[in-house]
Amino acid sequence: PVLVVDFGAQYAQLIARRVREARVYSELVPHSMPVDEMLAKDPKAIILSGGPASVYEPGAPGIDAKIFSAGVPVLGICYGFQVMAHELGGTVDKAAQGEYGKTEASIDRADGVLAGSPADQSTWMSHGVAVESAPEGFEVLAHTQGAPVAAMQDASRGLYGVQWHPEVKHTPLGQNLIETFLHRCAGLPDDWDASGIIEDQVAKIRAKVGDAQVICGLSGGVDSAVAAALVHKAIGEQLTCVFVDHGLLRKGEVEQVKHDFVAATGIKLIAVDAADDFLEALKGAKEPERKRKIIGEKFIRTFEKAQAQVIEEAGAQGKEVKFLVQGTLYPDVVESGGGDGAANIKSHHNVGGLPKDITFELIEPLRTLFKDEVRAIGTELGLPDEIVWRQPFPGPGLGIRIIGEITKERLELLREADAIAREELSKAGLDRDIWQCPVVLLADVHSVGVQGDERTYGSPIVLRPVSSEDAMTADWSRVPYDVLATISTRITNECPGINRVALDCTSKPPATIEWE
Ligand code: XMP
Repeated sequence: PVLVVDFGAQYAQLIARRVREARVYSELVPHSMPVDEMLAKDPKAIILSGGPASVYEPGAPGIDAKIFSAGVPVLGICYGFQVMAHELGGTVDKAAQGEYGKTEASIDRADGVLAGSPADQSTWMSHGVAVESAPEGFEVLAHTQGAPVAAMQDASRGLYGVQWHPEVKHTPLGQNLIETFLHRCAGLPDDWDASGIIEDQVAKIRAKVGDAQVICGLSGGVDSAVAAALVHKAIGEQLTCVFVDHGLLRKGEVEQVKHDFVAATGIKLIAVDAADDFLEALKGAKEPERKRKIIGEKFIRTFEKAQAQVIEEAGAQGKEVKFLVQGTLYPDVVESGGGDGAANIKSHHNVGGLPKDITFELIEPLRTLFKDEVRAIGTELGLPDEIVWRQPFPGPGLGIRIIGEITKERLELLREADAIAREELSKAGLDRDIWQCPVVLLADVHSVGVQGDERTYGSPIVLRPVSSEDAMTADWSRVPYDVLATISTRITNECPGINRVALDCTSKPPATIEWE
């Protein structure tokens, strides 16, 4: 693989993605992993990510300089570039002028990692520290106003570095640079694609499972459906899917999932009605992390309870269910604080929300993948577009879209409003333009309105349509005003108790997609 060493950057996952877009397999590793362990993975190239620290400050994460003499090509980006310069004897110091956002770079030598570059490049930067002079043996390839050394290389040792972020879309020639590094500097072929994962995972799953029984928690979403199809390909009838109706689903969802999924895959499916159970457990819970933990735990308890039925229907008396398949994706792991040095932004129900005493062993074949890669695998496995292109819906469902305590009445209200928004967005042909559109009920907020000449004191609904590539970052969707107007009118007319509809026009970051 190509290793992306994560120095705690928001963008480390993005680098890993870009490498895969260049059709080279990549994996993220934490900077705290010993260099020997990294080298034991036999990396074909290494990329050092950016990060929030300043190299010259005490305690700043560094890296054993051994990594630069192992004969593996290395590309340092931003902080990773500064670490490279610092470790090899260059000077790194507080920049005379920090550079944040769009920055013009003057290319002094369009060579090596910058081969073919125009004399000036628009780049995206975020640094207050600069490399003042390159280490011995390096040639300077570019500079900016704030960075005397903005790019450097020692091609004889296979070492390259850039101050800017080639992984973000705001650096128009960024992907070019990454591909030049991978294909030209490191000589790697562009022959990887996500479908290669299928054969690899099928073999791994077979070896792991043996003749045990396996259940898969199916949510109806892309991730768990693809995970189920993949595991089914590996072990066939040993797999049973369990679909939990936790009462936090959208209108018509239970029937739809049961129908679409079984029709498309023919995989055994048991549906469990656990709505009362979940509601009871969630009583009084208002705080988002608490809700998430309760829901994560309840899921597992429900799967445990379903075991007997699974065994019976599988005719596997005397056996027990040993494995639980989850459609966990890479971003879930990262946001739940699973990446080393990464903050816990929110506990995804299937990662950070899992109880400690779980008896199942987990199978998570998509754990290193991004959504678009999962979609490609789904298509390759023969799943229909309705499943593969279904908009994401979080496992905790409407439970994290009611801001405040969850009650039956509030759920019904939100379910109605959500159904209206979905219907109108679909009608307007926006399904594929919009990544997803959470509809949020601010249940504890009240505002004054007037309806039918009467004063009302109701709650607002917030629409949160977003566009995104992988849910790690997102922008709010510019839904046409007339579509918003129709949704607003219908919701206030058809959902008693709702007297206001608001639009969330915040990107991620600084917000997240869901409100909790
Ligand atoms: P955020 O709110 O973190 O959401 O920007 C990113 C994506 O993840 C979905 N999401 C979840 N999915 N379990 C899930 O299965 C969860 O606990 C969970 N929390 C957020 C969210 O809908 C968006 O697509």
